[in-house]
Amino acid sequence: MLKGTFPIDKLKALPTPFYYYDVKLLQDTLDMVKNEAGKYGYHAHYAVKANANPRILSIIAENGLGADCVSGGEVKAALDAGFPADKIVFAGVGKADWEINLGLDNDIFCFNVESAVELEIIDELAAAKNKVASVALRINPEVDAHTHAKITTGMKENKFGINLSQLGQVLDNLANLKNVKLIGIHFHIGSQITDMSAFRNLVIRVNEIQEDLEARGIRIENVNFGGGLGIDYYHPNHLPIPAFDNYFAVFNKLLKIRPGQQVHFEPGRSVVAQCGTLISKVLYVKEGETKKFAILDAGFTELIRPAMYDAYHRIENISSDEDVELYDVVGPICESSDVFGKDVELNKAHRGDLIALRSAGAYGEVMASQYNCRQLPKAYYSDTI
Ligand code: LLP
Repeated sequence: MLKGTFPIDKLKALPTPFYYYDVKLLQDTLDMVKNEAGKYGYHAHYAVKANANPRILSIIAENGLGADCVSGGEVKAALDAGFPADKIVFAGVGKADWEINLGLDNDIFCFNVESAVELEIIDELAAAKNKVASVALRINPEVDAHTHAKITTGMKENKFGINLSQLGQVLDNLANLKNVKLIGIHFHIGSQITDMSAFRNLVIRVNEIQEDLEARGIRIENVNFGGGLGIDYYHPNHLPIPAFDNYFAVFNKLLKIRPGQQVHFEPGRSVVAQCGTLISKVLYVKEGETKKFAILDAGFTELIRPAMYDAYHRIENISSDEDVELYDVVGPICESSDVFGKDVELNKAHRGDLIALRSAGAYGEVMASQYNCRQLPKAYYSDTI
């Protein structure tokens, strides 16, 4: 959707700020995921953490994807949205007992286990229910994702997964546990990865790990590569769907797949980022001494990515066609970090103009907070407004 193709009259009538979701773009993205993953028989589990809005989740569930969850709350949200339990995977370094029990009670597809101690607790809790939990070991592959440090997960110093050097010990312990069954291995090296060489390196490492495991007599039924495919936040003229074709092709080309082996992915951002926009209103245009500020009624409470990761989101004044001027676009929150962009080129802004913060469908609504006693924003959908 280009600037100017928003249904401005309808948006103008809604109380700002709010999230606006382009349902057709979401469907087009899902069609692409299904087609491209389907070419190779790959399974896609949508990473619920990227956007857990119930409507969005139910659309994704209707399209037949599985769900990747990282908390009991996400498992519940996935089940409520219609994801079948046998397509739910559950990762996370700190699963509480009630969360593990929830997974066990619902017979989810598998727990992605992040440590030796967690494995023992799952075994204990499963034994108490006379069940055998399916587990995949999340292995920290020590592969650099070449992305922002705060969203890198696959390096030694990160808290995630089992270190390669400790894998042997974990496998030895696992052999003695009666109530867990090893069904796979799991990886996730980071997010917003646009350099395909990171994924290539991951596959090469996974091939090596599989050989080591086979040398120990262990055959792996499921390999899960996690998520991480980045999107193009800069998109000057269009909102591209990420290149799922190139992405899955990397795995197809390089993975030494074993007969009957199932390959899984956990895309989050790449599925939902482009379909969401945060719509906000200009409250004031403030002429500072050296700067002009466009002060919005949305702040980092509605979109924390710029403040937290220095992330870029394209900002457009969708109410104005006047000549472009430079603004620092800021929110109302009492923190200096509440800045969406500095020296942003915006069509001349006036009080009341609608401002679109693009590509906010992933890690936007779901990371909203009520700081400063603000209300959580509402969401509207292109097919129902
Ligand atoms: N699987 C696991 C185990 C994960 O930890 C994540 C994301 C994903 C899948 C999905 O990754 P994606 O396809 O969305 O890159 N709030 C940050 C991103 C945090 C990502 C956390 N884990 C941001 O706004 O950039």
